[in-house]
Amino acid sequence: MTAQLIDGNALSRTLRAEVATRAAALKARGVAPGLAVVLVGENPASQVYVRNKVKACEDNGLHSVLEKYPAELSEAELLARVEALNKDPAIHGILVQLPLPAHIDAQKVIEAIAPAKDVDGFHVASAGALMTGMPGFWPCTPYGCMKMFESIGYELRGKHAVVIGRSNIVGKPMALMLLAKNATVTICHSATQDLGAITRQADVVVAAVGKRNVLTADMVKPGAVVIDVGMNRNDEGKLCGDVDFAGVREVAGWITPVPGGVGPMTITMLLVNTIEAAERAAEAT
Ligand code: GUN
Repeated sequence: MTAQLIDGNALSRTLRAEVATRAAALKARGVAPGLAVVLVGENPASQVYVRNKVKACEDNGLHSVLEKYPAELSEAELLARVEALNKDPAIHGILVQLPLPAHIDAQKVIEAIAPAKDVDGFHVASAGALMTGMPGFWPCTPYGCMKMFESIGYELRGKHAVVIGRSNIVGKPMALMLLAKNATVTICHSATQDLGAITRQADVVVAAVGKRNVLTADMVKPGAVVIDVGMNRNDEGKLCGDVDFAGVREVAGWITPVPGGVGPMTITMLLVNTIEAAERAAEAT
């Protein structure tokens, strides 16, 4: 059996069109939804990510402000900028691109963002809201994975979902989102013994480690749904995920490609969170 592809580009187009419609409706009410993106330093990957986020906003009717600062910016100066953006009524979402330079405490900066504007979903208040089922913002990458399950009409209730990776940005929130849908969830990580024995029992595998070939065909139950969050380069310098795509697609029932899978969904969900933040702010006034 060859797996069916879950096309992140196509799903993104649909979801972004919905964002554009909601943005137009807000604008008609006199509210221009706005995202502030803050970049400190010259990290080349961050520069690309930030450019793509700003462009995605512009393409879908959101207003965006890009604030670029030199790597020498002090933590106090950055905190002051976040504070000013918290108070700015034209800004509904704030994203501080990570990683930050080493002299800045990233968690302290994240905690300075008003939870109502935390469209990355990294604030402890957002993490707590996800954990307890309260309204809040979900981190964009695992949220995008949930939209992918929804797009294929996959019923997670009662299924065994295995998440490989335990980061605060993907693995842990992913596990909580799957649990909220009544899946039985296992989190695997670098100290897990016999990963394959666990993944072979999985109806769903989400690989979010940042290492090539973490999941190979012999580790996958026939028909499983495989979501690949990885973004790596192979020996030829080509983008690849954490999953051995060529092998696993012959065993899985559904699989996300890299590129064109989870990647575009992350920015899409940032747009969704930002329009949601703007709508909530408009309701509150
Ligand atoms: N760096 C890599 N991915 C992300 C992300 O989703 N948000 C932020 N703020 N920084 C990142």
